Amino acid sequence: MKIRLPGGIRTTLAVALLLIVGGALGVAYLMVVPSLERRLVDDRLEELQRDGVELAAAYSSRDFSQPFALDNFVATFALVYNARTVVYQVGGPQPLKLFLQADSGISGRSVADDSVALETARTTHVARGRVTRGGRPYAEVAVPLVTTGNVLLLSSSIEDQLATVRVVTRRLLYATGVALLITAILGSAAAAVHARRIRRLERAANRIAQGRFDQPVVDDGEDELGELAAAFERMRVQLAQLDTARKEFVANASHELRTPLFSLAGFLELMTDEDLDEETRAGFLVTTREQVDRLTRLSADLLDLSRIDAGRLHVESEEVVLADVARALAEELQPIAEGAGHVLTLDTEPDAWALADEERVLQIGRALLANAIAHTPAGTEVVLRTGREGGTAVLVVSDDGPGIPAEHAERIFDRFYRVEGPQASGSGLGLAIARELAERMGGTVELSAAARRTTFTLALPAVAAAPEAVPVPS
Ligand SMILES: Nc1ncnc2c1ncn2[C@@H]1O[C@H](COP(=O)(O)OP(=O)(O)OP(=O)(O)O)[C@@H](O)[C@H]1O
Ligand SMILES: [Mg+2]
Repeated sequence: MKIRLPGGIRTTLAVALLLIVGGALGVAYLMVVPSLERRLVDDRLEELQRDGVELAAAYSSRDFSQPFALDNFVATFALVYNARTVVYQVGGPQPLKLFLQADSGISGRSVADDSVALETARTTHVARGRVTRGGRPYAEVAVPLVTTGNVLLLSSSIEDQLATVRVVTRRLLYATGVALLITAILGSAAAAVHARRIRRLERAANRIAQGRFDQPVVDDGEDELGELAAAFERMRVQLAQLDTARKEFVANASHELRTPLFSLAGFLELMTDEDLDEETRAGFLVTTREQVDRLTRLSADLLDLSRIDAGRLHVESEEVVLADVARALAEELQPIAEGAGHVLTLDTEPDAWALADEERVLQIGRALLANAIAHTPAGTEVVLRTGREGGTAVLVVSDDGPGIPAEHAERIFDRFYRVEGPQASGSGLGLAIARELAERMGGTVELSAAARRTTFTLALPAVAAAPEAVPVPS
């Protein structure tokens, strides 16, 4: 069951502190007061016992034949030891008979049937105890008088001792009250500070949840709340970056879609002109077709990216013979390369087997080859090579075109990033998709630019042994 106090964390913390302090002082009280009382009473009983035994010894060795000698003796003792001193006769019809008593000025009720004295009369041993008579507390010691068989009782009020205990108790209660008050004030102040910091964090979280990333999350504390605020701040920065990236992506994608659409609309408009000769119309149709192709490619790329972002892009993990992939690519792109005046050379090593998704490897190879053809001038030699490097199987596309300036080297893998130049330019998505696909297959795509040689390497996890030869049916 959840207990929820009104007033939130501030009240909860303050109440918890009060309970702790109250509990601690309660325990201190229980440990100090009863043992102090016991100790004081025991000390008094100890004293009385010593005096009683001394008195009994003196009593036995004295001669009390003089008149009043006994009374004086007992009265002196009562005065010196500040205790009511009583001698009982034992053995008559009553178990105890008051024989003599002196009370050192302490008036008290009758001690005729005193329980401590009765015990000594019964056992003939020293007895001691605490009794209440007429509502007042007394410490008592009874000692047997050996020569006469009588019993001597020393009874002393312990009001003073108990008063001392009461003073200590009162002081403890005052201390408890003051401690609780101080705790309540300090605790609620400290809790208020924490509650304020938590509320500030809550406001920051709400701001972030509403998509407002402009205000930083600040908390200078070095405790857990400070660390939480720092984590919130990191989250805010990351979300702000993601938000910017998302907005840029949407803006770029819209822009890329609009350009071919505008161009298509323009050409379609022009083609409605009835005076248009056949040759121009055919030219317009070719351009229209190109724009439709560009739109198709673009939408396929955007779809791939959205699948990658949503984590819904599925890649197979199968044995892929890279030499076969390279041959298929060369076959597919040879006409385009030749059409653009490029020389495409194939250099395959037969034992490069990768653990990958064949379709996706083809897609990456296609993007790299298309770049080497599209972004280099006619006459450039493009080499498509496969092989093994370390523990990886590689598919390498290199060209001796103008290369990529060093300052763009890493950024060309960003979405929509392209180097402005004289050569044809696409949407800037090819390399971004290639890299993400390679990473999904546990591989990499890297650019290494040597002097006048641009090399893109797709490295994939290699299969250790040759794939099983498919048995030829006899
Ligand atoms: N072999 C290359 N030689 C020179 N520049 C290159 C080469 N490959 C890529 N680039 C540069 O890198 C940029 C990014 O390439 P990427 O493939 O990502 O986009 P794109 O080819 O422009 O468009 P898309 O591939 O989406 O149609 C290109 O615009 C081009 O400037
Ligand atoms: Mg490209």
